[in-house]
Amino acid sequence: MEQDMQSLKDFDVGRGVRPVTGVPLVHLPGSVRASGLDKDARWGLSRTPKRLPAKYFYDARGSLLFEHICATPEYYPTRTESALLERHACGILDQVAPGTLVEIGSGSSVKTNHFFVACERAGRCVRYQPFDVCDEALRAAAARLKRRYSWLEMELLVGDYAVDLPALPHSRGPRLFLFLGGTIGNLSHDEALSFLSALRATMHVEDYLLLGFDRIKDKHILDAAYNDARGYTAQFNMNLLRVLNTRLGADFDERQFMHVAFFNEDEGQIEMHLKARRAHAVTLARIGLVASFARDETILTEISRKFTPAGMRALLEAAGFGWCRHEESDNGYFSLVLAAPV
Ligand code: SAH
Ligand code: AVI
Repeated sequence: MEQDMQSLKDFDVGRGVRPVTGVPLVHLPGSVRASGLDKDARWGLSRTPKRLPAKYFYDARGSLLFEHICATPEYYPTRTESALLERHACGILDQVAPGTLVEIGSGSSVKTNHFFVACERAGRCVRYQPFDVCDEALRAAAARLKRRYSWLEMELLVGDYAVDLPALPHSRGPRLFLFLGGTIGNLSHDEALSFLSALRATMHVEDYLLLGFDRIKDKHILDAAYNDARGYTAQFNMNLLRVLNTRLGADFDERQFMHVAFFNEDEGQIEMHLKARRAHAVTLARIGLVASFARDETILTEISRKFTPAGMRALLEAAGFGWCRHEESDNGYFSLVLAAPV
């Protein structure tokens, strides 16, 4: 994974990533809504406690920082899920026999490689529709995949999975929807239920969902995963302030904030905050907002919920899915579940 990553120091956020020849990129309606940052910032920074939606982490730099987090020794989800996919991709493809893989929140698509390798081994051909809010991440992933799998037919979908599932373009079935990385945990219970219900509504009887979810475990392991020693998670968290500065003409000073992340055992979730080191005010010029911070006041920037298999099963069933197959790591840190519409 390291060799595919650009250096953060050299990363020129303004440069963007060129279109990938022969690979269509479709903007779904929510890709416009995803830039509803002005409304979300006004709402989230005027209330108490302050909060901002996690989807705004993922500009080009944020997506790259996430890749760096995935490679840290503390962040076990990526390597654990990757090992599960490596072991089970072949069996899952046999069970589903998909015509298309639709990956929601696909990011760098690195783990999806296990499916493409399994396809090559079995002489199968699939289409790939990665779907993400970050078009730079989509293009970078597509360029890499195109070089490695020249046979792979792709269509890149830019949009917001909270609103765009009904607008997904049709594709050859059966479709295997992938929602990996434990990203389901970044949604509250109600958001996850409405996301899964919307997905269920777009699916046909022969389609499947492969969902990766992170499990409840020792608090020290969880706390360490969101406080890596190299500081990539802290930079990822702070990136939200850069996004607000760039896009809303804000004057956030990163030095006035600190990264705080901890496992809230009562809620079963990691909470990531930006905490003001002292009382001060920030101006967001483009939306005419002045946000005042008390010393130690926080912005909640992300939740990352952790599940038990029973809890996830109940959530899936409430959204109209049956639980077909469950693969878990030996240490019980992470699970993959294959679910189908009932
Ligand atoms: N699936 C990858 C990436 C996980 S990071 C993995 O397992 O490693 C979460 C991904 O979801 C990012 O690529 C981010 O850009 C995307 N994302 C976050 N919020 C989104 C939203 N509302 N709609 C679409 N994509 C979103
Ligand atoms: C994308 N998502 C599953 C990650 C997580 O673990 O909740 C995002 C992340 N935030 C901090 N580190 C990683």
